[in-house]
Amino acid sequence: MIKYLHGFTSEEQQRLVDQAGFLAPLIYPTVNFAGCRKLLEIGSGVGAQTSVLLRLFPDLHITSVDFSETQLLKAKDNLREFADRVTFVLQDVEQLSLAERFDSAFICWALEHIPNPLLALQQVKKHLIPGASIHITEVFNATFYCRPLSPAMEFYYQKYNEQQVHFGGNPDVGAQLGNLLFQAGFKEIELIHNGFHLDQSNPDELKRFIEFWKILMKSGAPGLLEAGSVSQSDIDLMENDLDRILADENAVFFYQFVQAKAKA
Ligand SMILES: C[S@@+](CC[C@H](N)C(=O)[O-])C[C@H]1O[C@@H](n2cnc3c(N)ncnc32)[C@H](O)[C@@H]1O
Repeated sequence: MIKYLHGFTSEEQQRLVDQAGFLAPLIYPTVNFAGCRKLLEIGSGVGAQTSVLLRLFPDLHITSVDFSETQLLKAKDNLREFADRVTFVLQDVEQLSLAERFDSAFICWALEHIPNPLLALQQVKKHLIPGASIHITEVFNATFYCRPLSPAMEFYYQKYNEQQVHFGGNPDVGAQLGNLLFQAGFKEIELIHNGFHLDQSNPDELKRFIEFWKILMKSGAPGLLEAGSVSQSDIDLMENDLDRILADENAVFFYQFVQAKAKA
């Protein structure tokens, strides 16, 4: 059975679509596949990012790789209108084997779940033509900071990150993107820091991101409950802490993810 922090329920599949829409204004300003024709997407999930890419870059054909059949079936359904521009591949990226070579690659929120992200990038590089562009967006969970102090949120966050490590992932893989790309043989590596730093100077944005964060945190809840790492009361207290931040005059809500661009 696949061990995966967020699980594959229909609620989780919808969360990925909502998340892609919510974060698109932060993620896509640095993404440029103009002039590219054949893109390899790794950990494509239910096609939430695929859909954004297909709309932004009308010349792209995307090969979407995921190791979950459940995700790929949902992706096929979500991307019906683009059926002639997407090929779906059920494979583990660590054993990637495709007959084609690509002029571009995209990975978003997937390396964090992969036990050997260096091997994943080496496999991707083997499938790229020299000079192909890669764009990666990944978590750097240690950057999370909030005020007032929120012990229940911090307890839950610790368990959430520990669960990801337990499943073979790395909740701080964003910090390693430069090293990983370098070790995999990529060139012209560029790192970009992105995310949010919110406070009461913009209460609407603060509220929007705290609501987003609650849903993200709760996406790990079924697995954490099943593992006995948290109780329902821990989940409720975590949500209360997030509500308290929203109401605090000195509220701070800060998180940075990392984007990397490079050439094969
Ligand atoms: C958090 S989801 C992100 C999906 C999509 N990139 C997005 O942003 O909406 C991570 C996806 O990576 C897939 N995945 C995890 N490990 C994988 C592996 N070793 N090979 C292929 N896919 C993998 C999971 O099945 C899941 O669909």
